[in-house]
Amino acid sequence: MTDEIRFEHISMEFPGVLANDDISLSIRNGEVFALVGENGAGKSTLMNILYGINTPTAGNLYVRGEKVTDFSPKAAIDRGIGMVHQHFMLVPSFTVAQNIVLGREPKNAGVLFDNKKAEKLTRELVKEYGLEVDPSAEVRDISVGLQQRVEILKTLYRGADILILDEPTAVLTPQETDELFEVIRRIVREKEMTVIIITHKLYEVMAISDRVGVMRQGKLVGVENTCDVDEKKLASMMVGRPVLFDHLEKTGTPGDVAIEVDDLYVADNRGLPAVRGVSLSVRKGEVLGIAAIEGNGQSELLEAITGMRKINRGHVTVCGTDATGKTPGEIRALGLSHVPEDRLSTGVDKVASVSDNLLVGKQKEKRFNLFGFHQRRSTVDRYAEELYEKFDIRGAGIHTEVGSMSGGNMQKVVVAREFSFDTPVLVISQPTRGVDIGAMEFFHTRIIEQRNAGAAILLSSADLDEVFRLSDRIITLYEGKITGEFKADEITKEEIGLYMTGTGEGAKA
Ligand SMILES: Nc1ncnc2c1ncn2[C@@H]1O[C@H](COP(=O)(O)OP(=O)(O)OP(=O)(O)O)[C@@H](O)[C@H]1O
Ligand SMILES: [Mg+2]
Repeated sequence: MTDEIRFEHISMEFPGVLANDDISLSIRNGEVFALVGENGAGKSTLMNILYGINTPTAGNLYVRGEKVTDFSPKAAIDRGIGMVHQHFMLVPSFTVAQNIVLGREPKNAGVLFDNKKAEKLTRELVKEYGLEVDPSAEVRDISVGLQQRVEILKTLYRGADILILDEPTAVLTPQETDELFEVIRRIVREKEMTVIIITHKLYEVMAISDRVGVMRQGKLVGVENTCDVDEKKLASMMVGRPVLFDHLEKTGTPGDVAIEVDDLYVADNRGLPAVRGVSLSVRKGEVLGIAAIEGNGQSELLEAITGMRKINRGHVTVCGTDATGKTPGEIRALGLSHVPEDRLSTGVDKVASVSDNLLVGKQKEKRFNLFGFHQRRSTVDRYAEELYEKFDIRGAGIHTEVGSMSGGNMQKVVVAREFSFDTPVLVISQPTRGVDIGAMEFFHTRIIEQRNAGAAILLSSADLDEVFRLSDRIITLYEGKITGEFKADEITKEEIGLYMTGTGEGAKA
């Protein structure tokens, strides 16, 4: 095997952060190379150099033996490099085919966009690579898993033979992940492509990669053949010490009902029924977990409960008060905190600082204000520093723009803020999507602490292990209806899987 890509003493410095620190690494032709490391370790930064988004502040990059002198995505694409980013970059109102050819559109007589040709090209690609997707569907109407396919097809259309996938599975269901891995194996085997994959899920590293590189605080701390390591070894290389997943001690008995949902009907973005007659209740001092495959109404259900989506029929009660039809702000005031699923659009203000983001919802508190209107900057900063420290947020400090932080660290900002309200009710969606194993352990501990202190917690997560670890009770949702309710310690993951697909014993779907 030859070296396809060679980083030689590469460094990347942003104001106040050395994101990549003297990295030398070779990636071989035709291999699947996994890149792992804690949030903020510098993984995306390194791959953004390969893709030409970042120009390194020191060192050299070679692609197929040729030194790279022009860092731009266009030049990288011309070199055969494709990248699917941590946060997708498709145009929602365009069709699949239009997105795929965007930037290199087929033209009718050299001028007009040729939609037929675009769809034909897409169909050919779909066939060649076995990546099934409807060319004429609008991107906003297809699942996240399919959107990712479109991103991959887009890179293939542009002739990529080196494919970078930045946390591709963070948003996928287990089934979609299996399909993606099939695709990766196929393009590596049949098309001799080179694939670099960033992930926080170490079992995925074991399942898909030939070699693995570990980053820590900007440095590359090791490169191993995957067959020579195990998850435990990788975890300890990542954080610099052994990682312990302690048993989480659940104490106390459930108290009064704090969230009550009665016969709820909610529609999705297209106006189609998404939640169809759901009733549930969550008591103080318990975690109710929702297990469901993406797209079965769980997102719409949580949005309706928290006031972000219109309720068509039925009722929601929060802490004894009717919350049906109230605004998110009014529901918050009833004592509910919310970690939303789509944090990047609804959870943070990307151009505001970490400090300002942490303060949202608390601006009016007396301790942060002088004479009721003048903000006490020093108190605010001290408060922000405290949360920054406690939640192990890593970046250039509390005054940096949230938008410049690593994906996992943006996430920590939202979780830190919502967990610090000390409200009796917490509604949490995908709490650990995109966060590293250390942060996951930390979040889980906090969630159980709040539970033990008497909070009522409604949790939705695509990660079944997480649902099992945290929940007292679990409900399964399928096509907008509850298909089963279980005590977490009286059911197995396999059984739950059946109810999630509507095929469990006596399923009502
Ligand atoms: N454009 C930028 N401007 C300023 N700082 C940046 C920029 N991009 C990244 N950083 C900083 O560089 C560091 C590394 O970030 P990077 O996104 O590479 O981490 P990561 O390993 O991909 O983490 P995650 O797992 O959370 O995605 C972080 O401290 C981040 O705040
Ligand atoms: Mg990243």
